[in-house]
Amino acid sequence: MTYAPDFAGLSAHRARLERTDMRTLFAADPERFRTFSATERDLLLDYSKNRIDLEAMTALFDLARAADLEARRDAMWSGEAINTTENRAVLHMALRHQDDTRVLLGGRDVMPAVRETLERIRVFTDAVRGGALTGATGRRFTDIVNIGIGGSDLGPAMVTLALEPYTRPDLRAHYVSNVDGAHINDTLKRLDPATTLFVVASKTFTTDETMTNAGSARAWIARSLGEGAVGSHFAAVSTNLTACAAFGIQEDRIFGFWDWVGGRYSVWSAIGLPVALAIGFDNFSAFLAGAAQMDVHFRTTPLEQNLPVIMGLLGVWYRNVWGFPTHAVLPYDQRLSRFPAYLQQQDMESNGKSVTLSGAPVGWSTGPVVWGEPGTNGQHAFYQLIHQGTDVIPCDFLLAVVPQEKLPPHHAKLVANCLAQSEALMLGKTRDEVEAELRAEGLDEAAIAALAPHKVFPGNRPSNTLIYEKLDPRMLGRLIALYEHKVFVQGTIWGINSFDQWGVELGKQLAKALLPKVTGEADAQDHDSSTRGLLEHFHALSA
Ligand code: F6P
Repeated sequence: MTYAPDFAGLSAHRARLERTDMRTLFAADPERFRTFSATERDLLLDYSKNRIDLEAMTALFDLARAADLEARRDAMWSGEAINTTENRAVLHMALRHQDDTRVLLGGRDVMPAVRETLERIRVFTDAVRGGALTGATGRRFTDIVNIGIGGSDLGPAMVTLALEPYTRPDLRAHYVSNVDGAHINDTLKRLDPATTLFVVASKTFTTDETMTNAGSARAWIARSLGEGAVGSHFAAVSTNLTACAAFGIQEDRIFGFWDWVGGRYSVWSAIGLPVALAIGFDNFSAFLAGAAQMDVHFRTTPLEQNLPVIMGLLGVWYRNVWGFPTHAVLPYDQRLSRFPAYLQQQDMESNGKSVTLSGAPVGWSTGPVVWGEPGTNGQHAFYQLIHQGTDVIPCDFLLAVVPQEKLPPHHAKLVANCLAQSEALMLGKTRDEVEAELRAEGLDEAAIAALAPHKVFPGNRPSNTLIYEKLDPRMLGRLIALYEHKVFVQGTIWGINSFDQWGVELGKQLAKALLPKVTGEADAQDHDSSTRGLLEHFHALSA
């Protein structure tokens, strides 16, 4: 029988919960926080501020079991080609696997090759950081420029920023991704070619943006240090070793990975090379070990206490039963400022699909729009809509207990703001409360009647809070892996392939076809009138 998730069965639970609100549920049950929170070591997930009760959660866990979640999770780990449209296994967890057990793919253990690459990364990063490996003029490297896009950029860029306290001021990492020349220009203009090391990162080594930027970087080095210097200033990370060599990268500076690592799951592979250069290999290893901890949690913890499962099911609950279209990720941790952008690729490229594994159209909604900014900045920008807008937006708040800075008033205020937001979203403010406040301020009844509706907060707005000890390499690894598995849980329930990304291809094809029309080498007659009109305007202004 064809698989289809039974969301209709959940609507009775929605109907029951619509007759109450979270304020009432909290008042009625002093144990609500304890009932609806779960931990993985020091990481606590408080999901009590959601529109749920025990019956609804039980039904959601049943939904996961009906989707054979555990069997599919085990199939992924056993190296089955669960990415069916590309006929590939999904084994990025092997990249951070810690114990001596084997990770098999087609009967062969992938771990020796994983460990060999990690050892090469260690040797290379130690040599660069220690100054044994220098640029062509013999000067130490002071700047690493990673050239990559999508999964070959977002992961390492986000991680480097998040782990800033573990970086060194004399070895800075920069990330160039956009084909817009402004990106590479504005990065390179502050750098000295003699002390700059480029890492060209591309799983395929064919991505146009990356190859264009790599070509400009190569020309920049050759122009200032001579063609012979290129080899000393470039390293590459790819599954396409032949193309790396053809670009002129020295063999001992090419770091490989494998087709069973999806681009958006590749920060654990040699794609993490700029991270290892920036924070040192030991910290990079701790980052991998943290992710492995979360893998063990996901594989071995019963669904009812399993953090990624709970978060995934709540996402499905809001997307498919309540019809909420977006999900906000709001880190109260400035260094996680690129985490929402990273999650956009991880989640939206994975679960932005409209057909099931068998190719039939899905009859239900799939991935939400994922977005967010760090608190408290978001509070002064878009939280207005989250509190009083017409759409309900489930939120994840992320918060560290121990800051990296010794600036006590800052952190206490940050924590207070974070807790205040989820409390405000849940509680809201009733008309009676607003009127009482206005009366206490001395407003007359006419003014109160006019103003009160604007000051009412509906409340009953859902959120999760993730609270952890400290944003160190291990914790960051755990957080990223948590969201990876959450995305997997949701993709499994939706019955889609979370590991391909055919939706990015059409734009690439059309850009290729349009390029000669932009440069004026071909005419645009075969295009629609809008595209033709835009090109005409472009040519008129650029003439
Ligand atoms: O945007 C599509 C995509 O294929 C992503 O999945 C990938 O992370 C990115 O392009 C970059 O690809 P590559 O690492 O092959 O350059």
